[in-house]
Amino acid sequence: MPTFLFFTTFKILSILILFNFPIPSFCVEVHIKRSLIDFIQKLSGDNSDDIAKTFGWTISTDPCTHQWNGVSCNNETGTLKKIILENKGFNGSIDASSLCRAPRLTVVSLHHNELQGPLLPEISDCKQLTHLLINGNKLSGSLPSSISNLDNLKRVDISGNNFSGELPNLSLISGLKSFLAQDNQLSGSIPQLDFEFLDDFNISGNLFTGKIPKDAAKFGAESFSGNPGLCGEPLARVCQDETTASDESKAIPGEKLAMIIGYAFLGFVVILFLAFMIYKKIDNKKKERTNTSVNPINASESITERSPYSIDGLLNMDSPLIASALVVLKPNMSIPELSFENLLKAPAELLGKNKNGSTYKVVLEEVGSTFVVKRVKELKMSEDEFSKRMLRIDRTRHESVLSAVAFYCSKNEKLVLYDYQQNGSIFNLLHGNFNANHQPLDWYKRLDIASRVANGLAFMHKELEDINLSHGNLKSTNILMGIDINPVISEYGLTVQSGTKKNDFMDDVFNFGVILLELLTGKVVQNNGTELAQWVQSVVKEEWTVEVFDKFIVGDTANEETMVRLLKVALLCMNSGHASGPSMAGVASMIDELREDEEEGSIVSLKCDN
Ligand SMILES: *[C@@H]1O[C@H](CO)[C@@H](O)[C@H](O)[C@H]1NC(C)=O
Ligand SMILES: *[C@@H]1O[C@H](CO)[C@@H](O)[C@H](O)[C@H]1NC(C)=O
Ligand SMILES: *[C@@H]1O[C@H](CO)[C@@H](O)[C@H](O)[C@H]1NC(C)=O
Ligand SMILES: *[C@@H]1O[C@H](CO)[C@@H](O)[C@H](O)[C@H]1NC(C)=O
Ligand SMILES: *[C@@H]1O[C@H](CO)[C@@H](O)[C@H](O)[C@H]1NC(C)=O
Repeated sequence: MPTFLFFTTFKILSILILFNFPIPSFCVEVHIKRSLIDFIQKLSGDNSDDIAKTFGWTISTDPCTHQWNGVSCNNETGTLKKIILENKGFNGSIDASSLCRAPRLTVVSLHHNELQGPLLPEISDCKQLTHLLINGNKLSGSLPSSISNLDNLKRVDISGNNFSGELPNLSLISGLKSFLAQDNQLSGSIPQLDFEFLDDFNISGNLFTGKIPKDAAKFGAESFSGNPGLCGEPLARVCQDETTASDESKAIPGEKLAMIIGYAFLGFVVILFLAFMIYKKIDNKKKERTNTSVNPINASESITERSPYSIDGLLNMDSPLIASALVVLKPNMSIPELSFENLLKAPAELLGKNKNGSTYKVVLEEVGSTFVVKRVKELKMSEDEFSKRMLRIDRTRHESVLSAVAFYCSKNEKLVLYDYQQNGSIFNLLHGNFNANHQPLDWYKRLDIASRVANGLAFMHKELEDINLSHGNLKSTNILMGIDINPVISEYGLTVQSGTKKNDFMDDVFNFGVILLELLTGKVVQNNGTELAQWVQSVVKEEWTVEVFDKFIVGDTANEETMVRLLKVALLCMNSGHASGPSMAGVASMIDELREDEEEGSIVSLKCDN
């Protein structure tokens, strides 16, 4: 372990001692104990339970309180965290399905034994695994592709075995820091990994072929040597086939050419047919329009009519648009009432859909503006109630809350229009593809986002407390980046509210906690985020705390103590649900406080008491 990591770990551990996570304690269940005893028996290749007994692994004892040899637990939760059986001379096999019945294992280290056989796909049941160290054995077969589902993995060492075949798609494991696979029989091309963020990578002494990816050159020739089929930097062997490959693709053999001409002809026929259909449709619509004597709108007409998918086309057929149902909230700068209809007829791009409704992006060419139209579903409230709610939200303005441009509300349809925010959502920024003009968010920006969103929400909660109106659907896709790259909360109050103030506001606090976790770990949240929270808690309890943080923020000049404090706030939010949980105002002030400390760079005393 590099010294800096050790130091950080030590530092964080000492901080954690000050924390006290409210976690219930319980013992390891019998069926898990039985599975583990099976596991060690298979590992030793000895079917009697002699070995298990030698290691103190018996059904009548508890792995944690009786300290089974090679097992580490989280003492407070009574959950198994690590199985470390190194250099024990075991010559059996790894029974991954028994091993992974222990649900929260983070470290499995079995290196330098004589283990044989394959690594079974069931290893992916150890969902929280961060370290898989099985180097220096006699394992064989190909690595199961399910390994790429272990998206908490940080360090994998399979070196010095007899693994063969191609590597699975490791690029799916976003936080991988180290991959050591030297001295095996692995083949195929080198998978495309995030080499920039890997600390260690070694595949020397295998049968890999092809060109070494450009980003991987930094690991040096020693990490690639001994693969006769590899070429390119940093190896001295130059790749031969680069020029020949491009020549091949240029030449079109006769057979292919005939095929291309065939397709082109077919394409032409299809286009002709479509053009005919569209012409017919436009013609019909024009007739319809004149019949119902709606004002013809000249220039934009041809544009709007062309769109096969418009909001209008998706609305309930039995609810024709009623002009009086439209309320324009920002009259001076936005759409004239007249063009609302055009807006609904303009080409609409579906941005997202969930149980609360669908979101579309619509460009209104006549005024050169782009809008987002939220079609609200399942909101069983009268037009009057909805109107009141929207007007009230509109009067409650905060710089971190996106206000609507207009809303439309008839018996069957409720639409809310927002200005389109072209800088995307926090979700996009955290989980999108990074390239030259889209850099990952650094730690300071993340802290700033956390603080602004917390304050915006706290303000709304306070102002709308009398009508019990919470956001109701807070998530990272609803936090957008404004023109100034500051966050704005969108879609406030567009959901059914439970009606009990406590629950609705608490839900927002919980969901805000999930967003904090996303900002800190860079991980995509599954379900409602509780699994992520459990994983974070389990890793934090261990010495690997620093490894829960997103690779993009660790190692910045950032202060890891502040990160841990923010992590604590996130878990506190997610632990709320109960009467004594923090309010959004309380959360906002905690974040502001730690942000000030971070800015002063003077964290001397930690105020992390409960
Ligand atoms: C857990 O408890 C055992 C004995 O009760 C102790 O030896 C061990 O050091 C404890 N582990 C941690 C991480 O506190
Ligand atoms: C494992 O080692 C034991 C002795 O340590 C030996 O009796 C046994 O045959 C070995 N098993 C295999 C599969 O090599
Ligand atoms: C490794 O596996 C290959 C087949 O893939 C086999 O021929 C070879 O004997 C194995 N080597 C060892 C040391 O087990
Ligand atoms: C591996 O996964 C990544 C991310 O999903 C994908 O872009 C890539 O095409 C995959 N590569 C292979 C060889 O399947
Ligand atoms: C990679 O592994 C080989 C073989 O064990 C070793 O000689 C080499 O030093 C390793 N490379 C690095 C960069 O550690």
